[in-house]
Amino acid sequence: MVVPRLIERKRDGGVLTGDEWRELIAHYATDDVPDYQMAALAMAVFFRGLSPEELGALTGAMLDSGSRLPRTPGGAMRVDKHSTGGVGDKTSLILAPLLAACGVAVPMMSGRGLGHTGGTLDKLEAIPGFTTRMPLDRAAHQLDTLGVVMFGQTEEIVPADRRLYALRDVTGTVESIPLITASIMSKKLAEQLDALVLDVKVGSGAFMPALEDARTLARTMIGVGEQAGCRTVALLTAMDRPLGRAAGNALEVAESIQALRGEGTGDLLEVTLELGAEMLLLANETMTRPQAITTLKQAIRSGAALEKFREVIRWQGGDPAVVDDLAVLPTAPVIRDVLAGHSGRMPPLPPRALGELIIALGGGRRVAADNVDPAVGLELIPRAGQRVEGGEVIAIVHARTDADADAAESSLRRAIDTAWQDRAEPLPLIVERITASETTPWNEVR
Ligand code: URA
Repeated sequence: MVVPRLIERKRDGGVLTGDEWRELIAHYATDDVPDYQMAALAMAVFFRGLSPEELGALTGAMLDSGSRLPRTPGGAMRVDKHSTGGVGDKTSLILAPLLAACGVAVPMMSGRGLGHTGGTLDKLEAIPGFTTRMPLDRAAHQLDTLGVVMFGQTEEIVPADRRLYALRDVTGTVESIPLITASIMSKKLAEQLDALVLDVKVGSGAFMPALEDARTLARTMIGVGEQAGCRTVALLTAMDRPLGRAAGNALEVAESIQALRGEGTGDLLEVTLELGAEMLLLANETMTRPQAITTLKQAIRSGAALEKFREVIRWQGGDPAVVDDLAVLPTAPVIRDVLAGHSGRMPPLPPRALGELIIALGGGRRVAADNVDPAVGLELIPRAGQRVEGGEVIAIVHARTDADADAAESSLRRAIDTAWQDRAEPLPLIVERITASETTPWNEVR
């Protein structure tokens, strides 16, 4: 294999064979291909794309660079959900115990927040004592015994992606649909799933803001999943505004626990139930959608989902009392109400601006090595489209200092004023459902 010839072929619009991709990634994973050559190849892929065969070969080669989550034959259907990320998106925290309470095995391997979006691992670690780091055999044991594990990508899982993602991050090659697909799907396939539900975000705060790009990303990931024998379905959901009421690590845990207690409402509950229904339908082909929704609601109403979360917390070293007493979570010293300056309909607030505001409060990262403050964040009271009166509380800022709260309040006011002037109509909460064979507008699904 002569790497410069492969780079030239891809640069000129040619195709690499499956064997060439496999050899290249195997040598990259062992440091025999240097970063500068891989960066050039990633840029060639960025501009030229990959054929479906190349994409399958690249994903498989990345998967083979590491270990898989062990799986013993038989047992419950293994189903996961992956979101392309956003602000206030805490559905993983609710879905993992909820689906496990319904008999589905959920290996929820998640990431940390980076950029303006939050990360499930940071949220879980807001629970005192909770650990998301564990070796693969322990994760597999917990999954087999409890039915759910919520953990971080270990060193053994897809090491080629660790290196390639870090390289793409500094070489302008992140926003490539085939490279994103290979990166995400190699990690999901390493969980040895029977099925996967993708929550692909659309709108200004999404990784792929435009509907057509989000659709292409969803279809590309579905193609790779199905080709690898993992049934894959996607919902395209709105990220032109944050999801739910809370944004910030401990605040999002609190909102998730409230949902598991049966106190969930609005857009968060709706998206969670619909993603959960997709997971149940993939695990159980004889179930209808209304039956799936009823099963999920029943698991919440009976307390089974909350008990499952208590067990997850206990297994992973956290303080399980948090499910009964939210005061166990860290709290910020400064809590400040933000009042509406005038009356009107609440506009969709831009997730990127709010994500930046949370980073400025200390609740997110600018670089991977930053520490996050679990206690800080925002609560957004009215939903997009809801009428508010001047003087009403529209948000609550949770900050470490008065100065931080001042800065957050003025950023929030600027974001609200701009959104108010833009008069953008909120996107439908769920835009469409995509499978290997069809794309259906959501209003025709229900
Ligand atoms: N998340 C990933 O894991 N990989 C990407 O390439 C983009 C988002």
